[in-house]
Amino acid sequence: MKEWYDKIQAAESVETLEEIRIAVFGKKGVLSAEFAKMKSAPNEEKAGIAKELNTHKSKLMALLNDQKNSLQTLVLERAMKEEGIDVTLYASHSERGSLHPVMETMDRIVEYFVSMNFSVHTGPMVEDDFHNFEALNLPKYHPARDMQDTFYFSDEMLLRTHTSPVQIRTMLHTQPPIRMIAPGAVFRRDYDLTHTPMFHQVEGLLVDKEGEVSFANLKYILEDFLKYMFGDVNIRFRPSFFPFTEPSAEVDISCIFCEGKGCRVCSKTGWLEVLGCGIVDPNVFEAVKYKDVSGYAFGLGVERFAMLIHHIGDLRSLFEGDVRLLEQFR
Ligand code: PHE
Repeated sequence: MKEWYDKIQAAESVETLEEIRIAVFGKKGVLSAEFAKMKSAPNEEKAGIAKELNTHKSKLMALLNDQKNSLQTLVLERAMKEEGIDVTLYASHSERGSLHPVMETMDRIVEYFVSMNFSVHTGPMVEDDFHNFEALNLPKYHPARDMQDTFYFSDEMLLRTHTSPVQIRTMLHTQPPIRMIAPGAVFRRDYDLTHTPMFHQVEGLLVDKEGEVSFANLKYILEDFLKYMFGDVNIRFRPSFFPFTEPSAEVDISCIFCEGKGCRVCSKTGWLEVLGCGIVDPNVFEAVKYKDVSGYAFGLGVERFAMLIHHIGDLRSLFEGDVRLLEQFR
């Protein structure tokens, strides 16, 4: 029996110990065999042999358990060392996210018009010539097409240069009255301090019965909207031109940086141009086959609003993805 003590102590894995356990204590194991042999021993020796075997049995069992325990501890310690997590390490610092200033500004604009019962519509960024130009009273070769440098895919397909095509799409699949806005990205071949090839606009369109919509209605809502966005500013409407509105106007607010005194941002004029608007041109209604209606429309650049509200000097910084810019808007 002696050899089994050595074997148990030499065992280096739990698996080997298990094999030993079966070899010693199993049904066909050494102990069973020894007890079997005992039967053929002379009667007076039997008690002694049994006692001896039982002593071996309990000693071996105890040794086996001890060895198993220490092997298991060893395995555990090794695993902890290899797979362990060092809880004394500092947790890596995680930054809190925030809305991009352009999206935050867009949300505020949308919020205003939704509160005024305008519904929100969207349209495709890849447009066709009809929706982006033709139906908006901008026939092919019309000089006013030069106002917007267009990215073309082909003669017919392009990246929309403004959100005005959503006016057309909405009018083509609904009937008046309409009170809608269309926020979204638009694209022009432009790149400098105040222009990026992609930027965002919010379009507005209101259509009702002939004679029901006046320039005064337009003026009222835009003044209310601009005061909501910029606070107590002066507002002026300047005659302008858009092919899809007649009459048309551009809207200025008194410079929020110098309060109208004249500074670098307003080019010493005291005014900042913030949107375009007008009374919908009859040719537009004709293109969507609307009869006996009147309406107003307006469009604005969201980045321009964001830059004014947050005093951002270079439009391009809004698109560089530098977290140091975003960190300032939490
Ligand atoms: N679509 C014009 C632009 O992008 C803005 C506009 C919209 C003007 C609606 C008048 C009415 O410049």
